[in-house]
Amino acid sequence: MPGNTHKGRTSNKVMTLFVCFLAALAGLLFGLDIGVIAGALPFIAKDFNVTSHQQEWIVSSMMFGAAIGAIGSGWMSSRLGRKKSLMAGAILFVIGSLWSAMAPNPEMLIAARVVLGLAVGVASYTAPLYLSEIAPEKIRGSMISLYQLMITIGILGAYLSDTAFSYTGNWRWMLGVITLPAVLLLVGVFFLPNSPRWLAAKGHFRDAQRVLDRLRDTSEQAKRELDEIRESLKIKQSGWSLFRDNSNFRRAVFLGVLLQVMQQFTGMNVIMYYAPKIFEIAGFSDTREQMWGTVIVGLINVLATFIAIGLVDRWGRKPTLTLGFLVMAAGMGILGTMLHMGIESPGAQYFAIAMLLMFIVGFAMSAGPLIWVLCSEIQPLKGRDFGITVSTTTNWIANMIVGATFLTMLTTLGNANTFWVYAGLNILFIIFTVMLIPETKNVSLEHIERNLMSGKKLRDIGSHD
Ligand code: BGC
Repeated sequence: MPGNTHKGRTSNKVMTLFVCFLAALAGLLFGLDIGVIAGALPFIAKDFNVTSHQQEWIVSSMMFGAAIGAIGSGWMSSRLGRKKSLMAGAILFVIGSLWSAMAPNPEMLIAARVVLGLAVGVASYTAPLYLSEIAPEKIRGSMISLYQLMITIGILGAYLSDTAFSYTGNWRWMLGVITLPAVLLLVGVFFLPNSPRWLAAKGHFRDAQRVLDRLRDTSEQAKRELDEIRESLKIKQSGWSLFRDNSNFRRAVFLGVLLQVMQQFTGMNVIMYYAPKIFEIAGFSDTREQMWGTVIVGLINVLATFIAIGLVDRWGRKPTLTLGFLVMAAGMGILGTMLHMGIESPGAQYFAIAMLLMFIVGFAMSAGPLIWVLCSEIQPLKGRDFGITVSTTTNWIANMIVGATFLTMLTTLGNANTFWVYAGLNILFIIFTVMLIPETKNVSLEHIERNLMSGKKLRDIGSHD
């Protein structure tokens, strides 16, 4: 049996790594597309001579597409399978990147970014799902954090490439260069195997066995896993009817929505999308300084994600989230106060940037990865697809609202008040975390489900007694 020889084992490991790498590439593209607009926007605004309101729509059209993409991909990934969904996502990535680079006017750019958003929405739903179904059990948990790491690396990559192109001011290249990784994803996905879980769900047990034989160390392991899949498939997905009939499930869906709203209303993406603008508000008028400052923001975001990866399973979700919201509230609050008093000296300018970076650390070490981890843990098996579709879609809708209102908030509320609003929201989220969020560290998903369905308070569904 090929899976049992030493050579077979090594090539199976390489195959698994290749598969995980490719699915994670989808996370990279998610990040590239979130990040790219920050550096491109000032040049687009100048070139097309657009208003703040139009700029907000150039930014947010992608999130609008992503919300639709996330809704559609629940259906698509179950009908066509994860592999074909990823392929559709990759094709949309290529079309959206090329089209946005060539857009002749703001309207076309907005339309192209909706297409790009569809791709991001499909990727943000399908890639983690595929990863969790294809990764060996031992590393399944860390896969979601790694996926978040890929998002942050994508954002940093986009900031770096934006900075490189900023010397010529060519925003079309900034947007167009993303076509390359998109093509790489498209070609790569072609070689991906189908998810064994999906194959089994469709009754193709022999194909599922074949894929597992190629990916697992031994054929015994592959067989065991297929048996487990068969067992879990006995539980039929019944999302909508469960939602209609079962108030305990409705609470889990509500919790997923709340978690994603909290993640987005921290204000993280205000910085991701408008970082150069914020540097300008903090007194850095030179475009180069703004661009390099943005790169540092991206780098800190990547590095601080490692803190989360190290902390989640030691500290647990609740303390890490509480600390994260506290750090974010302090960062936004102090920044708002400084803007209120006026940032005059270079010392004050750098201190303001330090506060901005502190905020980034707060997000990346907590809400960034943890919200995705929690959302994948709290849904009962029967309603998992439905619950995760709803929470992922909420992520994009909330993301769109944040992106579509920031510049308007600056002009109507003023700079200081805008940052104070976000500081206040982060304080509110500390209260929500304490009152409503469960601790799920070291608790099996079955246990969480039993607690939820027996009517325990949300904050107690991870408790052992
Ligand atoms: C969020 C994105 C955000 C990114 C920043 C993700 O977890 O969902 O909205 O841009 O983190 O690193």
